[in-house]
Amino acid sequence: MAFELPALPYAHDALGPYMSQETLEFHHDKHHQTYVTNLNNLIKGTDMESASLEDIVKKTYNVADKAGVFNNASQHWNHVLFWECMKKNGGGNMPGELESRIIADFGSVADFKAAFVAKGAGQFGSGWAWLIESNGKLEVTSTPNGVNPLCFNGQKALLGCDVWEHSYYIDYRNRRPDYVNAFLDSMVDWEGVAARL
Ligand SMILES: [Fe+2]
Repeated sequence: MAFELPALPYAHDALGPYMSQETLEFHHDKHHQTYVTNLNNLIKGTDMESASLEDIVKKTYNVADKAGVFNNASQHWNHVLFWECMKKNGGGNMPGELESRIIADFGSVADFKAAFVAKGAGQFGSGWAWLIESNGKLEVTSTPNGVNPLCFNGQKALLGCDVWEHSYYIDYRNRRPDYVNAFLDSMVDWEGVAARL
């Protein structure tokens, strides 16, 4: 069965002024749709046509002649998570259990946020910043292009931030750190992040 672009879990103007309607119209309706369309075209008639999205990502990571399938499958998976990581009137306080885990592993919420922003701002070129759970510990990482925590044994993605320019250039121009800070402070659905623990 072909993969489909899921509807945004909120209206296109729900994240303003931090992420504009125009950004979501391009990012969700155009960029994400293109990944889904390309993926369906690339797996049509192959043994991957009936595989799960997670299996396709894991099986094609670092496989030279499957780079196109990997890039589009991983970006589909990444964007589905990304939309679910945000909500209208996001940000604010974290649920207590998540906050306790963050403080235990990063020292403080402020230290976690600084580390996450540093990962997002420091990722050279296109990629993603992540909060992951690995071996019972919370960590922040970054990955290039479409690479995601599914590619690495034992990593569970709790939060992902798209730092490709298409995610922030309309609203923030070249100020990627401002975008990642706004993502954490005003857009993230922390209850959703806690539910992934
Ligand atoms: Fe994106």
